[in-house]
Amino acid sequence: MTAIASEAGALLMEFFDKNIRIEYKGDADLVTAADRKSEALIRERIRQTWPGHDVLGEEEGLRDTGSEYRWYVDPLDGTTNFAHGFPVFCVSMGLQHNNQMIAGVCFDPTRKEMFAAARGAGATLNDRPIHVSATKHLKESLVGTGFPSHKRHKNPNIHFYHQITLRSHGVRRAGSAALDLCYVACGRMDGFWEFNLNPWDTAAGVLIVEEAGGLVTNFSGGPFELNSREVLASNGVLHEELVREFQEIFAGRGVEPLPDPREYADKP
Ligand code: IPD
Ligand code: CA
Ligand code: CA
Repeated sequence: MTAIASEAGALLMEFFDKNIRIEYKGDADLVTAADRKSEALIRERIRQTWPGHDVLGEEEGLRDTGSEYRWYVDPLDGTTNFAHGFPVFCVSMGLQHNNQMIAGVCFDPTRKEMFAAARGAGATLNDRPIHVSATKHLKESLVGTGFPSHKRHKNPNIHFYHQITLRSHGVRRAGSAALDLCYVACGRMDGFWEFNLNPWDTAAGVLIVEEAGGLVTNFSGGPFELNSREVLASNGVLHEELVREFQEIFAGRGVEPLPDPREYADKP
């Protein structure tokens, strides 16, 4: 898996170093030739080595032959960054056996960072074991989130962004959900959440967080499911506090109103 992710990452860098032609899937959903070429390469490599395996990829959809094995492939996670020359993106691949994730890799070709995990065998960054942070309280934490590129007006996340910003050291919105999860796994961030992600965004990263000692659930603290479209990841220690905060925000309790920009501008 790491060999395939490296090769796909190298291909992305060839495009990244040149001028990239942007295409649109919807009004704001970008796709580049690099997304498509990367997925084609990954599918070809999987087919050569494991011809019987099924694949769900963002660009080409599902090949379903009823295999016990299914790959979840995001050939380029962070397309908007990529298309603008902002160097935060990765290749993400998760492998499932009988509906259980057994292995995952995320490769960031700009930093040459390969995050990997196998169920029961721990998680690594460039072959060295990684572990989640030990941060105990939300007020001492750095957390991450993301916003979808489509149906943005229907997404309530800006409220969560605001409230969690007030309660933490800060909220990062780096633009690659798979990498955000890896950053929780290696302790660069203490938590991460997002609404409406797809299975190819989370399949690898969730296993990497869990194998690094972290916890991933839905927003109520219940089991994470690949299709649940709610992901809340943390170092485990912070989890209860995050779930409590989410419940409060959903219920509208203790929510600080956004300051009025005109009043703020008038202050010396
Ligand atoms: C996106 C990224 C982004 C997240 C979006 C995803 P893409 O994936 O992971 O961080 O906020 O929700 O759609 O489209 O670049 O593969
Ligand atoms: Ca993605
Ligand atoms: Ca993608």
